[in-house]
Amino acid sequence: MTDCIALWVDRADITKTKQVVSQIPELADGQIVVAIDRFGLTANNVSYAVTGDSIGYWQFYPAEGGWGIVPVWGCATVTESNCGDIPLGERLWGYFPMASHAVLTPGHIHEDYFIDVVEHRRELPLIYNQFRRTQAEPEFLQKMENERCLLFPLFMTSYLIYDYLIDNQFFGAQQVVIGSVSSKTGFGLAQMLHNDPQVTQAVIGVTSAGNREFVKGLGCCDQIVLYNNEAEIDAGLPTAYVDMSGDARLTISLHSHLGENMVESCMVGGSHWQEGGKVGELPGARPRFFFAPGQIEKRNKEWGPGVAMVKAMTASADVAERVVADINIEWVNGVESLAEHWAQLLDNQIAPSRGLMVAL
Ligand SMILES: NC(=O)c1ccc[n+]([C@@H]2O[C@H](COP(=O)([O-])OP(=O)(O)OC[C@H]3O[C@@H](n4cnc5c(N)ncnc54)[C@H](OP(=O)(O)O)[C@@H]3O)[C@@H](O)[C@H]2O)c1
Repeated sequence: MTDCIALWVDRADITKTKQVVSQIPELADGQIVVAIDRFGLTANNVSYAVTGDSIGYWQFYPAEGGWGIVPVWGCATVTESNCGDIPLGERLWGYFPMASHAVLTPGHIHEDYFIDVVEHRRELPLIYNQFRRTQAEPEFLQKMENERCLLFPLFMTSYLIYDYLIDNQFFGAQQVVIGSVSSKTGFGLAQMLHNDPQVTQAVIGVTSAGNREFVKGLGCCDQIVLYNNEAEIDAGLPTAYVDMSGDARLTISLHSHLGENMVESCMVGGSHWQEGGKVGELPGARPRFFFAPGQIEKRNKEWGPGVAMVKAMTASADVAERVVADINIEWVNGVESLAEHWAQLLDNQIAPSRGLMVAL
């Protein structure tokens, strides 16, 4: 019997955690056990917990009582298999629990991916149920395991927003304002816009004073504006706002400043997870929620299945290479250290230059 160690989070108060050790049950026909040896930890995981009930992130790996298991992007090796098509030792990349092991039920098995077809995941977005079989992928991707855990899930979203803006001719905007630009999703988008010679829109990053130098060092913003200095943005130009912060004060301030020149307002994230709240009626475009899987589905229909994912992965690899010197990978070993780093992340104590990789 294999012991599994996990960190559970109190769904009613995500600052409370507990370590849980359990035994992996006997496998049913078709199931596999994977040992998760690494996963990335960023504000995105905090958002999964904050919206666990409203969007459904607690449903991927159900816990018990009022507790939840936060999903993470990680790599794992198959250690037990009752599934003829998935051999022992196979390497996987995907959406795992914050735990040392997981039981999966592979279905729709292809050379390079399968889908976890366990009953309780059936209604959840496909993108999270897909596990990549990495040995079938190009060698350069196989060598980028840490980047894939820590950066790709965010940069792939950056790509989908970049694509969404291009798809809509930037809604007529001449500048793009990115809220919480020091986040990986934020600066990934800034990089993609900045590096595309076809994009003429100026890129304006909004961040906190402490993260200004980090953003400056990335060299992908035409202008960096600190929180509460939104009036420095040229209100005379049509503007698209892409928000990773979820900070209601910032949204209200930017809409009020830009007025009808706010031609698109796209809510992507909530890195300022304690600063949410209602924004009410605002001048300019009505803020709308951006859900990355939605843009993938649109492009799957237009470009063919899987094409958007490949483009997003290629764009992610490109940005990952560009920022390799700006992000220091830092290993978090063991569940106690994970609990401490979770608390620090909630408390905004993790500088954007620190890339947390967890090994339980
Ligand atoms: N809708 C989607 O499909 C989708 C997909 C991917 C990511 N996202 C969202 O994008 C956001 C960014 O995720 P990420 O993983 O890229 O973030 P990250 O790299 O971990 O972001 C770090 C930055 O976020 C801000 N921050 C982090 N914790 C904070 C706290 N406790 N209080 C205040 N500010 C804090 C700080 O930036 P500043 O000082 O610059 O504000 C910090 O430098 C998340 O909310 C995530 O859920 C959404």
